[in-house]
Amino acid sequence: MKKFIVAILGIAAFMACSNTTNNAEQFADNPMQETVHEGEILLKKNCYVCHHPTRETGRIAPPMQYVKGHYIKEGTTEEEFTRAFVSFILHPTKLKARMPGAIANFGLMPQQAFPEETLKKIADYIYNNQIEGPGDFEEHKKK
Ligand code: HEC
Repeated sequence: MKKFIVAILGIAAFMACSNTTNNAEQFADNPMQETVHEGEILLKKNCYVCHHPTRETGRIAPPMQYVKGHYIKEGTTEEEFTRAFVSFILHPTKLKARMPGAIANFGLMPQQAFPEETLKKIADYIYNNQIEGPGDFEEHKKK
């Protein structure tokens, strides 16, 4: 019986050790894993072509920072935001739109085939992080 317990402890200790090495290796392989949100990568790849944060000339859509400002007010929950945001992008209509000024300037956002999962990851990133942009949304609102 004693031998058996020693053997179990031995295996447990071995597993604990090999686990730590595994984690350490994974982290070394991908040091950015903890810091870059998948939604950020997807946002830059799929949306910044039009919703570029700072481009002044040849702008074809409002910066995403402004979009966020129109969609997230005080008390807007992540669930409410995600539902409205994803729903608009899947099927943009004037009825759903919250940025009539942007529609007047740029026309309604063209419908594109973004997977819903992609949009949810982007929504998660936007809701939970500061979005880069011209940085003067408060000023912009006053205009
Ligand atoms: C081909 C250009 C283009 C691309 C790519 C694009 N958009 Fe847009 N989007 C627009 C334009 C133009 C508007 C402004 C007119 C409007 O509000 O419909 C807009 C507006 C929006 C709005 C606000 C709509 C409103 O009025 O309430 C949201 C939300 C949005 N885009 C999300 C996204 C997201 C997320 C992506 C990437 C997955 C994306 N867009 C990619 C052109 C684009």
